[in-house]
Amino acid sequence: MTEKRIRTVAVHAGSAPGDSFGALSVPIYQASLFTFPNAEEGAAIHEGEAPGYFYGRMGNPTQAALERSMAELEGGEAALATASGMAAIALALLAVLEEGDHLVAQASLYTSTAALLDEIVAPRSVEVSRFDGSRAEDLEAVLRPDTRAVYLETPTNPTLSVVDVERVASIAHAAGALVIVDGTFATPFNLRPLSLGADLVVHSATKYLGGHGDLVAGVLVGSQELVDAARWRMMRVLGPVIAPHTAWLVQRGLRTLAVRMERHNENAMRVAEFLEAHPNVERVHYPGLASHPQHELARRQMRGFGGMIAFEMADAQAAKRLVDSVRLISLAVSLGDVASLIQHSSSMTQSSLTADQQRSAGVNPGLIRLSVGIEDVADIIGDLEQALRT
Ligand SMILES: Cc1ncc(COP(=O)(O)O)c(C=O)c1O
Repeated sequence: MTEKRIRTVAVHAGSAPGDSFGALSVPIYQASLFTFPNAEEGAAIHEGEAPGYFYGRMGNPTQAALERSMAELEGGEAALATASGMAAIALALLAVLEEGDHLVAQASLYTSTAALLDEIVAPRSVEVSRFDGSRAEDLEAVLRPDTRAVYLETPTNPTLSVVDVERVASIAHAAGALVIVDGTFATPFNLRPLSLGADLVVHSATKYLGGHGDLVAGVLVGSQELVDAARWRMMRVLGPVIAPHTAWLVQRGLRTLAVRMERHNENAMRVAEFLEAHPNVERVHYPGLASHPQHELARRQMRGFGGMIAFEMADAQAAKRLVDSVRLISLAVSLGDVASLIQHSSSMTQSSLTADQQRSAGVNPGLIRLSVGIEDVADIIGDLEQALRT
């Protein structure tokens, strides 16, 4: 998709003004039931053999509009919107994995995804092996004939490591394994994993896709076959459906995704440069900086480097002092909001890990995660500057 195209797609995708009296904004269909035209057609809709809606858990026109948008933005055949990002990840994994399968996962993953693998997936007879996602060359050695899928996140949460999706996909496919990518940090504006060979993309729409810190949602995108498996085998029995109003809010968020991401990308680059030059900051992790170990890969693979920065203060005390001293930037978990957010990783989102697990995930006691918002960048830098003086 060209530069111009994705900006246009973000504004128009999913809308169908021919329906609903020509309403340009997709209406919120606040309905859990849809009547059948007759018994025969009703039976076909009920089994997913004919298009249409019958019950809110299995689909709704507002949800479908969001799904069309995300499929188009990611370049996938179909999408399934869910109640949260974790629901999208769980449905994707459960739709793909069978008992006795082998799964290869990137070593460093969002903590709840890692917990899902360790506490829910692995105990149900799916063996899980890990590999360092920044070293695609290590993948081949962990793949096995029974490997069903490889699970990745890029850039990773919280240390912004970048995975070579094209290389991982070609190694995984050669071994007969599918590739699932969590694209939450990048969004389809900065990275389109399906075009690089991935089979499924999952997102926490709570973050940049919604963009305004006012909803919790998720989405998975891929082939019709995989998305159907997630909807008809997993959504049907597990039920983490997105509410129509939430689907509408995410859809509205997508309308401004391109302009927001452009500003997030620009602001984060400037903030990363400021932090890297500051004497009180020990290290900055941002794929846009030449000092990032995978900077060249990120340049090749991504349209922009995103709005997320991790940086290290000398110790936990200095990090906590900094996050307590910001005034414009909010001390909060989550990310991808229009407003800048900051958090101390080891005592907040990464606190469920042991000290050893934190160390091996690169979460040093002084690590701070900053979600750079779309405010005037001079104000963001000014706030950090005063906080770094305290
Ligand atoms: C990379 C990543 N994936 C998935 C999730 C889970 O999304 P949700 O909170 O919408 O369930 C998060 C949440 O922080 C995340 O950062």
